[in-house]
Formats: sequence, C-alpha cells, structure tokens
Amino acid sequence: MPKERPLWRGAAFRLCVLSAALLLCLQLAVRRSWCPEERPRLPAVAASGRAVPQPRGTAAASGRRRVTYVRSGRRGGRPGRKTARWHIELQPWASPTPSLNYEALRFLKYISTSQISCEHMNLSSLRGNSEVMKRPWSVCLDERFSLIHRLRNKQCRLYSLGLGNDDNQFEISMANSGCEVHRFDPSIKSAHIQEGQHLWYHRLSVDWRDPNPAIAAHKLHSNTKKLGTILNEFGHQKIDVLKADVESAEWKILENLILEDVVEQIGQLVFEVHIHWPGFEVSGNDSTVVRYWYSLLRELELKDFRLFHTYKDLSKPQMLLKKEAFNASSCYTLSWVNTRWK
Ligand SMILES: *[C@@H]1O[C@H](CO)[C@@H](O)[C@H](O)[C@H]1NC(C)=O
Ligand SMILES: *[C@@H]1O[C@H](CO)[C@@H](O)[C@H](O)[C@H]1NC(C)=O
Ligand SMILES: *[C@@H]1O[C@H](CO)[C@@H](O)[C@H](O)[C@H]1NC(C)=O
Repeated sequence: MPKERPLWRGAAFRLCVLSAALLLCLQLAVRRSWCPEERPRLPAVAASGRAVPQPRGTAAASGRRRVTYVRSGRRGGRPGRKTARWHIELQPWASPTPSLNYEALRFLKYISTSQISCEHMNLSSLRGNSEVMKRPWSVCLDERFSLIHRLRNKQCRLYSLGLGNDDNQFEISMANSGCEVHRFDPSIKSAHIQEGQHLWYHRLSVDWRDPNPAIAAHKLHSNTKKLGTILNEFGHQKIDVLKADVESAEWKILENLILEDVVEQIGQLVFEVHIHWPGFEVSGNDSTVVRYWYSLLRELELKDFRLFHTYKDLSKPQMLLKKEAFNASSCYTLSWVNTRWK
C-alpha cells in the first residue's frame, strides 16, 4: 500500500499539468470566439455585431475582429455546428388520450424520485459553517463529483438567481466555504456590491431572452439578461452550482439553458419549481402544461443530469394548477448533478 503513493502522486501531478495546459488552451479559444453559436438565431443582433452593451468596453474591439466559427467542444464532445433549436422535444403523452390525471401522476412521480444517491449533502459539515440550513438547498458533496474538490481548492463558483427578499444563508455558507458567489438580484441599490471576500451582488435579473437590441439602445443599460450572456460578459466558463428561486420564471429559464446548451457549463442545479400555475409564458391546457414541465426535466436527464434530492414544501399551498388534487405541493426544491461535468 505505501509503495503506491509516489506512483499515484506522479499520476496526479501529470494530470494537473495536463489540465492546466488544457485550461489555458480553452481560455485562449474562448477569448477568441466572443461570437457564440447562438448568433444565427438572432439575426438583428448578428447584423449589428453586438448583443448588449459591454461593461468592459471590449465590444467594439471584439466586434471588429468578430470571428464566426462555432465555439469548439470543450472536451471534443460537441461535433460541429448544431442546428439551432427553438423548442424542446416534447415527450409522448402519458396516456393514449391526453388527460391531466395521467400527466400529473407521471410528473409528480418523476420529481419525487431521486435518480442517483448522494450521501453528503450537509453544508454544515464544511469548514466555516455552524448554522443549519432552514431550507433544503442541497448540493452533492460526494467525493465522486467535482464540487467538493473544487470547494477545497477554492475554485468553486456559485450563481444564485433570486428576487430580493429571500434569505441568503445558503449563499453565505457557500462563500464561507470558499466558493465565489454571484447573487443576481434586481432589487439591490447599486450595480455591483461586494460583501466579504467571496460574495458579490449584481443588480441583474436573469431572463430567458436578451432584451430587444433596439430597446436596449434607448435604455442605455438593461438589467435583464440571459444567463449565457452574463457568462460571456463575466468571462466565466463554468458554474459549479446554479441556484434559482425565481417564482415561476424557472421553467422558461431552464428551457433557455437547455436550448442554448448553457446547462453543459453547469455542475449542479438547485431549483425551486412552482406548479400552482403554468409559469411565465407557459401556455396551453393543463395537460399540455404538465407534459411540457415533464419534457423539460427529461431533457435534463438526456444531458446526463441526475436528480439526487427532492424536497416537497409542505408549508406552501398544496395545489397543482390551482387544483387541490394529487397530494401535490405548489412548490418543490429539486437538486441535480451533471454527471458528465468535470
Ligand atoms: C389539450 O391540448 C392538446 C393540444 O392542443 C390536445 O391534444 C388535448 O386533447 C387537450 N387536452 C385536454 C384534456 O383537453
Ligand atoms: C448537518 O450537520 C450538522 C452538524 O454537522 C448537524 O447538526 C445537522 O443535524 C445536520 N443536518 C442534517 C440535515 O443532516
Ligand atoms: C401526501 O403527501 C405527504 C407528504 O409527502 C405524505 O406524507 C402522505 O402520505 C401523502 N398522502 C397520500 C394520500 O398519498
């Protein structure tokens, strides 16, 4: 056993050097390809060469030497240009004739069943955390997933989408554990606030589309952006954890992340989902809505996300689409880990 250690260390060192080199290449590649593959879907934006006002004054320069190749797959996994998708793939109906009953049963069973087990979800076990969470914002800290390692190496990054009045205990705990935390909250007083060494607040709300460039030009600066846009502007390639508590905007935001492949840049998702009404800009009859929710989550599964924790909030109204039925709660907190993510 002791004889194995130097060997293991040698391998680990080589791996480190390799990943460092890979990271460098990657950063160079991404820096050069400011123009991401989403462009073809936004002709007006592509024509003008800039999507949104740039805070760092780099837009003009990068606009001029705009390269139009598609960002290449980070691990060689993305073959060429993908056809832009406007819609997610809808799953077949749960029953031969569409019925809310069958859709709801299938969906509720799905969100109540973990797909992978996670042993360590307790943030309190990390250094610097004494408080016990009031709410179940569970992340998976098992050794087989990267989060715990990235926390230890202080490489972790958390994005938190919220609306003002929520408690920030989870964010503070993650920041205390060494995670770089970015909290997006449209209600704060100035554009960016830093609180402590690792915690930033940004006056931005994350949406499922960028503002119309014509409108944005008049308004000078907009506080609403897509997550992919924010990542580009901040120069961030990865988010270890994305937490969202956005009062029913989560469905369209999730759809946007899936359609633009932004989910692939995320290690774990912790979403509060609301089912007492369809959600912003989700339409159709009740069975159509539930089928759409279910289909969205199946797309996540297709991208190798696995649900490891599910929490039914019994303190909220117990209803699904305004009906007190199916023993459903209007609110669940769901946590996924991206099993493909390194
Ligand atoms: C809901 O709408 C879908 C699609 O328009 C339709 O196929 C289905 O029959 C409707 N379901 C119910 C229960 O009315
Ligand atoms: C998490 O750990 C703390 C201390 O390590 C313990 O007091 C608390 O009960 C644990 N919480 C859960 C939900 O296991
Ligand atoms: C309803 O849900 C609660 C909480 O999940 C559970 O304890 C209870 O057994 C359920 N009741 C029925 C009738 O399924």
